[in-house]
Amino acid sequence: MDNEIVEKRSLTPAVDLFVVSAPEIASHCEPGQFVILMAGEKGERVPLTIADFDRDEGTITLISQRVGKSTHYLGTLKAGDRLYSLAGPLGLPAHVHEKYGTVACVGGGVGTAPLYPQARALKAAGNHVIGIIGARTADLLILEEEIKGVSDEFYVTTDDGTKGEKGFVTTVLERILLEKQVDRVIAIGPVLMMKFVCRLTEEFGVKTIVSLNPIMVDGTGMCGACRVTVGGETKFACVDGPDFDGHQVDFEELMERQRFFREEEELAFEKYKQECRRNADG
Ligand code: FAD
Ligand code: FES
Ligand code: MG
Repeated sequence: MDNEIVEKRSLTPAVDLFVVSAPEIASHCEPGQFVILMAGEKGERVPLTIADFDRDEGTITLISQRVGKSTHYLGTLKAGDRLYSLAGPLGLPAHVHEKYGTVACVGGGVGTAPLYPQARALKAAGNHVIGIIGARTADLLILEEEIKGVSDEFYVTTDDGTKGEKGFVTTVLERILLEKQVDRVIAIGPVLMMKFVCRLTEEFGVKTIVSLNPIMVDGTGMCGACRVTVGGETKFACVDGPDFDGHQVDFEELMERQRFFREEEELAFEKYKQECRRNADG
């Protein structure tokens, strides 16, 4: 049945993986594209990148980090439940079917999920793929085996040194950029991480593509919520992106706009937690 969750599992204590029946979307989605779902009838619209797809099975895989009300509610759904709505594929496909040469694919935290289909396609196109994934601590790393499986070289970093190298993805990337020719970098993760990756690659003159996640509402270029500034021009991430040339992105503005509704979001989450406690108390 369309929109049915056929599989659900936890990747980390705060990250859920859902395999969802969506034959229409699975038939033509491409790496880099996303969906907007509503978990329940009264829910918010939540944009999530298509982390994987199976055209034969008619399924897509979504990986969601529980951060606020809507993603926590989504996290309560189980295999057999149905999403209230699912729209997609949205956004432009990433340019990952070309051969660039050596491509460093850098993923931070849950950003490793959208990175995976891109790294896989780049590998299939004949590129030498260098996978670098990082997280605050070992428990928060996701898709290690998957990224490793499509990489010619593979590195893991954790801020606290609990797995791989202690430090940031930029530490490893800088070492690689000093050692060898890299033709392109794909960086997907927290905005601050993407900003620092871009600052580094700009010094080396290596083209860097980032995937932007501003607040989105309709996802079709109508509402203007996802406005970002790229190369001094206003772009709508939902229709002009979400992938952009990282050296042209105004990251400060993006971070500011992401915080725009923080007070309302915290209030909504607090109310939701109270409701959950009341329901649990019976
Ligand atoms: P809230 O408490 O409402 O918000 C927490 C923070 O999340 C906000 O401060 C804001 O920065 C951001 N956010 C809130 N609402 C939205 C919204 N409508 N659109 C975008 N950001 C929002 N997260 C994943 O875990 N996995 C993914 O694969 C993934 N892919 C994304 C792809 C795109 C194109 C975009 C735009 C976002 C993606 N996100 C992804 C982020 C995810 O959509 C937000 O974390 C989620 O909407 C937060 O909802 P909430 O109600 O739980 O949190
Ligand atoms: Fe409305 Fe992009 S989400 S214009
Ligand atoms: Mg919300």
